[in-house]
Amino acid sequence: MSKEMEVDAKELAIVIMAAGKGTRLKSRRPKVLHEIGGKPLLAHVIAAAEHIVPAAHIFAVVGHQAERVRAAVAATGVQFVEQTEQRGTGHAIQCAADAIKDYENTLVLSGDVPLIQTETLEKLWKFHQMQHAAMTILTAAPEDPTGYGRVLRAGPESAEVTAIVEQRDLKAEHGDLDGLREINSGIYVFRTKTLLEHLPRLTANNSAGELYLTDMAALLRASGERVVAIEAPDAVEILGANTIAEIVALDQTLRMATAKRLMAEGVTIFRPETCVIDADVQIAPDTVIEPFVQLLGKTVIGSECRIRSYSVLENCVLGDAVLVRQSCVMVESKVASGAQIGPFSRLREGTELGENVHVGNFVETKNAVLGKGTKANHLAYIGDAEVGGGTNIGAGVITANYDGVRKSKTKIGSKVFVGSDSILVAPISVGDGALIGAGSTITRDVPADALAVGRARQVTKEGWAASKRMRQEQEKG
Ligand code: UD1
Ligand code: CA
Repeated sequence: MSKEMEVDAKELAIVIMAAGKGTRLKSRRPKVLHEIGGKPLLAHVIAAAEHIVPAAHIFAVVGHQAERVRAAVAATGVQFVEQTEQRGTGHAIQCAADAIKDYENTLVLSGDVPLIQTETLEKLWKFHQMQHAAMTILTAAPEDPTGYGRVLRAGPESAEVTAIVEQRDLKAEHGDLDGLREINSGIYVFRTKTLLEHLPRLTANNSAGELYLTDMAALLRASGERVVAIEAPDAVEILGANTIAEIVALDQTLRMATAKRLMAEGVTIFRPETCVIDADVQIAPDTVIEPFVQLLGKTVIGSECRIRSYSVLENCVLGDAVLVRQSCVMVESKVASGAQIGPFSRLREGTELGENVHVGNFVETKNAVLGKGTKANHLAYIGDAEVGGGTNIGAGVITANYDGVRKSKTKIGSKVFVGSDSILVAPISVGDGALIGAGSTITRDVPADALAVGRARQVTKEGWAASKRMRQEQEKG
């Protein structure tokens, strides 16, 4: 909660309407769980709400696939209210009546208006208090107002609103459609007591046959209550997501905003329009992101790193000065400063690379800890392994960690030299400073500083190949 916004526990409740099916999406997934910037629409709205009041005072109205929606955002700690039958936005708030009745004011948010900024909500809330209004509506004037409800003001310069009319219910009496450019964002603050007194008066007397929360504007005004509106500083913030195309457009807007924020903080992102950077990604200054990179989930990248083209990092944590060359795929991995990875490396979950580790092309790691300065530069599989520092893992080395039933662990000490094309059959341990001859199949532990060679001794027969060739030529005649 920001300093100026500290409010008494019972001063402000937030209701997020998230029960709708999202018919216009033609999707089995509930609308509010469609993602932008790598997380559900509803998660973005909750994040903005949490800056205003603690989660205990936030009530999400869920209905369509309620269990799925709850599960997706349960970790935030918000409260839930059930709207078993979705009879409109007014009905959604009726379902929340009990939850909000002890709060002086209620801020209503829409689960499908995800770009809303905390600062704008703070402005709306302050304006509502200053105006002593019963209802304060957040509005905007986007380039294309098609589909949104229109806000009718009492006069050209007036803060007061006479009604909100849904586009499909607009009639000639409301005036010229081109002149009605101010739209309803679906975000409002109400004086709770007044809201609850008038809520039961909503009727489904409209083209959709639903209880519209928007009708509260005219209802309250007719009862002599003050209804006002304030325009959002940027219309982009209030764009709704009703179709897949709109969701994809919001995703693009959000990602570009994320890229711009990172660049303002000193990160270089070449061709940002080609990169996919999720909303929660953190990057320190002087890091360079090349075109066509994907940084997903809660990835954190230090300073002076370079992430080269076509690499995909998901929930990874990188120190400083890490070089990720082209086309690496990295998931849930930690990489310490100075490490170099790729091209074409695959770091799977549980990989931990120490400082200055080098992992090269076609190396796959999983649940593997590699100590400082260790190198695995070519074509290796290192799984369920613990490797000390300064060790060299040759080309084609494999930890055979799976016997068809169990996974077993490989321990390799520090300053070990594992010769190329060796197979380490786990469970197995190789002591510090040991040397394993190339092409070995190692099935028994190797003590520190020992040489282990596990391959057939070479047999050389002088002249054998030449005499075979001669025999074959004679046979041919
Ligand atoms: C609504 C407003 C419209 C405004 C627009 C802004 C109404 C009648 N219209 O229209 O004036 O311009 O938002 O984006 O309110 N929901 C429920 N329960 C329901 C119905 C909806 O929880 O019974 C939720 C939906 O999940 C959604 C939100 O309320 O998150 C808005 O509903 P939606 O159907 O998208 O309203 P719009 O047609 O966009
Ligand atoms: Ca909507």
